[in-house]
Amino acid sequence: MSERAGSFNLGALAFDAYGTLFDVHSVLAACEAAFPSRGEAVSRLWRDKQLEYSWLLSLMDRYENFWTVTEKALRYACQRLGLSCDPATHTRMLESYYRLAAYPEVPAALARLAVKRRLVILSNGTPQMLAAVTRAAGLTAVFDELISVEAVGIYKPSPRVYALLPQRLGMPAERIGFVSSNAFDITGAKAFGLRTFWVNRQDATPDGLGYPPDIVVRTLAELADRLAAART
Ligand code: 2OP
Repeated sequence: MSERAGSFNLGALAFDAYGTLFDVHSVLAACEAAFPSRGEAVSRLWRDKQLEYSWLLSLMDRYENFWTVTEKALRYACQRLGLSCDPATHTRMLESYYRLAAYPEVPAALARLAVKRRLVILSNGTPQMLAAVTRAAGLTAVFDELISVEAVGIYKPSPRVYALLPQRLGMPAERIGFVSSNAFDITGAKAFGLRTFWVNRQDATPDGLGYPPDIVVRTLAELADRLAAART
């Protein structure tokens, strides 16, 4: 435990979407249906390339929205694996992003976390993608706002993205807890000055750049327990 109990004074929690609330690998069924026995390889490469493209574009000072990035990453994954993907299959696989499954503990944990604070999403996703995926998971009502990087035209971990939180929430960065399963996202948010809570779902190795999270948990349910114990 890296936080001191009771040391947080959080006014809001902001959640990453993909990989934190919604399982990007719930596209596996669609991938497997399209490409039997290659589904897992497609799903993994698709996600890896999606993130890599977001970083490349940001370093290049270019912006293409996350739907386009996701589409181009899927094309790359199929090409790299030597799989031919007809337009109807491509569209069907891509549209599974509108209905990604929430991790099982997410609805109940969010309900607990919302009792004392405002909850928002801060994500690379387009406003349309975020609205669709939260609606499909029945989570629309729990969030005050779905904040998309589209407002600043650059991807995480740019500080311009995290700066949207104090701006939109009207409170200082240190009163905002940022929750993500993506280590690079936690590193970026911490460097910006947010409180960071890493949901290390995959037992990943922590980033060693020197911006460690305030709390590390395995699930959102565990985070709800930890924050309740810290009386935030
Ligand atoms: C998100 O912003 C990083 O994909 C992740 O939702």
